Amino acid sequence: MPVLRNIAQLATCPPGNPQADAGIISNAAIVWEGSTVKWVGEARDLPTEFDREPVMDCERRLVIPGLVDCHTHLCFGGWRADEFALRIGGASYQEIAAAGGGISSTVTATRAASQGDLRRKASQVLDAMLKLGVTTVECKSGYGLDRATELKLLEVYRLLGQTHPIELVPTFLGAHAIPKEFKGDREKYIRLLCDELIPAVAAEGLARFCDAFVEQGAFTTSEARRILTVASEHGLQIKIHADQLSDSGGAELAAELGAVSAEHLEYVSDQGIEALASSGTIAVSLPLASFYLREPYIPARKLLTAGVPVAVATDFNPGSAPSFHLPLAMTMACIHQQMTPQEVLNGATTVAAQAISASNRIGSLLPGYGADLAVIDAPSLNQWLYHFVPNACARVMKNGTWV
Ligand code: NIG
Ligand code: FE
Repeated sequence: MPVLRNIAQLATCPPGNPQADAGIISNAAIVWEGSTVKWVGEARDLPTEFDREPVMDCERRLVIPGLVDCHTHLCFGGWRADEFALRIGGASYQEIAAAGGGISSTVTATRAASQGDLRRKASQVLDAMLKLGVTTVECKSGYGLDRATELKLLEVYRLLGQTHPIELVPTFLGAHAIPKEFKGDREKYIRLLCDELIPAVAAEGLARFCDAFVEQGAFTTSEARRILTVASEHGLQIKIHADQLSDSGGAELAAELGAVSAEHLEYVSDQGIEALASSGTIAVSLPLASFYLREPYIPARKLLTAGVPVAVATDFNPGSAPSFHLPLAMTMACIHQQMTPQEVLNGATTVAAQAISASNRIGSLLPGYGADLAVIDAPSLNQWLYHFVPNACARVMKNGTWV
C-alpha cells in the first residue's frame, strides 16, 4: 500500500459537495491499494498501520483526481485548418457548413481513412491528454454518418479502450448532421438511425450514450426526440448538443427526456435553465468552442445559482474546438465563465464524472474510488489555474499505476 506524502494541497472533489467546495486538504497524504484509494487526510493523521509502507515524496505539490474530459469528438480523419482561416476572414461556422465544409468535410475524410490510421491518430491525442493529467475521456462518433464508418469509429474506441491507459467512454452521435447523400430525404436518414444504427450499436455494446446535435442545420427537437427515445429504449443513456449557436429548445428537450447531460448551452434560455434544474441534468461547458468560434460563453453563474452543476470539457474536434488541452479550458472557464478554481476543478473531475454516470467510482479522491490522480507542479489549485504553463502535470496515475 504505497503512501504519497508531503502534498501541499490535495483536492478530494467529493461528489456530494457544493460545486464551490473541492474538498481541499492542506499538508495531506494519500494511500492506495491496488487500483483503489485506501486513505486520504492530513499527513499528521496518517494511521500508524501505514508506517511501514513505501513512501513517495510529493515535494509540496498539488494532487488532484485524474481529470475527466467528458465531451470530445476524439476520432476523425483530416483537419480543417483552412476553415479556421476562413472564419478569421469573417465567414461564420454555419456559412462554412452550409457551403459543404464543416462536419460534412470531416465526414468525407473520416470515411476515406483506414481504421489503423484513425486509431494511430487518436492514440497520439490520448498520449498527449494523459500527460496533461487526463485519465478518462468521453468520445463521440458522428464523423461517419453511415453504418460502416460509424461502427469503424466506435470500434477504434473499443480497441483504444482496451490498450490505452486512459479509460474511454463511447457515445454514439449518428445524429450529428444529415449526411450529404440524404440531404433530399432527412426522414430516410432518421429511419436509418432508429431502425438500424442504434439497434446495431446497442446490440454490439459499442456505446454507453447516444447524443444528438439539436440546431438549425442539424436536427430539430422533434427529430432528436424520436432518435433519442429509440436510443433510450435500447438502453443507451442520453446526451444532447444543446443551444450551441441559437436557443433551439435543446435544454428543454434534455430535461424532458431525462438526459444525463446537456452540452454547450451558449444560448440556453432562462426556461431552459429552470428545466435543467428540475430534471437534474448536468450542464457541460465547452469554453474552447466559444473561444474558437467567438461565440458567447455558457451562463455558468446563472446555471450554478439555479442548482445545475456545470462540468468543464474540451469538445476536442477538428472544427469548433481543435484543442484537447483541458487545463487550458479550465483556466478559460475561470475567466470567461466566472467560475472559481474550485468550481472548475470539480467541473473537470466529479461533475464531469456525473456527466458520464461514473461519479460513484471516478473523479474523487476518497476511499473506495479508483486511484486516478495527477500530481501538479504547483503549490495550490489557485496557482495552477492562474499561472498557465504548457503542462504543469508532473506525474499521472490511473487505477493505482503510474503511467
Ligand atoms: O460540439 N456542434 C457540433 N459538433 C461539434 C463540432 C463538430 C465540427 O465542427 O466538426 C461541436 O462543436
Ligand atoms: Fe461537441
